[in-house]
Amino acid sequence: MSAAADDLLARVKAPGAVPRHVAIIMDGNGRWARERMLPRPIGHRNGMKSVRAVVEASIEAGVEVLSLFAFSQENWQRPAGEVSALMSLLEEYIQTEANELDEKGVRVVFLGDLDRLAERQRAAVDGVMAQTAHNGTLVLNLFISYGARAEITRAVRLIAEDVAAGRMTPAQVDEAAIAGRLFTAGCPDPDLLIRTSGEMRISNFLLWQLAYTELHISPVLWPDFGRRELFDAILDFHSRDRRFGRVSA
Ligand code: FPP
Repeated sequence: MSAAADDLLARVKAPGAVPRHVAIIMDGNGRWARERMLPRPIGHRNGMKSVRAVVEASIEAGVEVLSLFAFSQENWQRPAGEVSALMSLLEEYIQTEANELDEKGVRVVFLGDLDRLAERQRAAVDGVMAQTAHNGTLVLNLFISYGARAEITRAVRLIAEDVAAGRMTPAQVDEAAIAGRLFTAGCPDPDLLIRTSGEMRISNFLLWQLAYTELHISPVLWPDFGRRELFDAILDFHSRDRRFGRVSA
């Protein structure tokens, strides 16, 4: 590694300054492909390389949880050819990366309505989650067939069932009760949300969990996003004064 790259890593890892949980809305694969007059799935394939780069850089930086929005509930409505290309890519990602992720100590967790996956992808997803369940270097949350409103609705339904069955009273319904029934139960909220390709939207991602998260919008299209861009986002995060609704110290 060059001296400049070393210096960048040292600045990123300044004591107490690394976000514990980084979440990313990976956007711009289609535009990246269109700019090169390539089919959209080629953009997604190159986006997979960025996933690898960002996982490695997160480990280097000491991030504890990396959450990636890989496929939304709304994405099921894309043309069938693109959906099937994305699903094949997901399977390929698991096949080619599972052992290396395991060796690096990454715990892979899939979150979302996994029942909508086809049998092959469901088996691959369950397999890598079981294989890496004991790991603790980095938690890699991959959101697939995910929508935050559906996640909150599901949590409310689970609470209603508990109340109806007499397992809890209405007075016991508090923020912890809701947070504990989200897919992310037990996971710290994101400190930093990055969205690529310059779009300034949350797009139904982690609506509950992002309440006090710092936002970083990068103009870079996802297939061009890598170590350097992640570290720039963390350096930007260092400059934020997080008050959580209170006043500064
Ligand atoms: C958004 O770009 C990206 C997606 C809908 C898919 C994200 C998938 C990957 C990065 C590759 C696979 C990842 C894993 C973990 C296997 P877009 O298509 O909306 O781009 P556009 O807005 O430019 O059209």
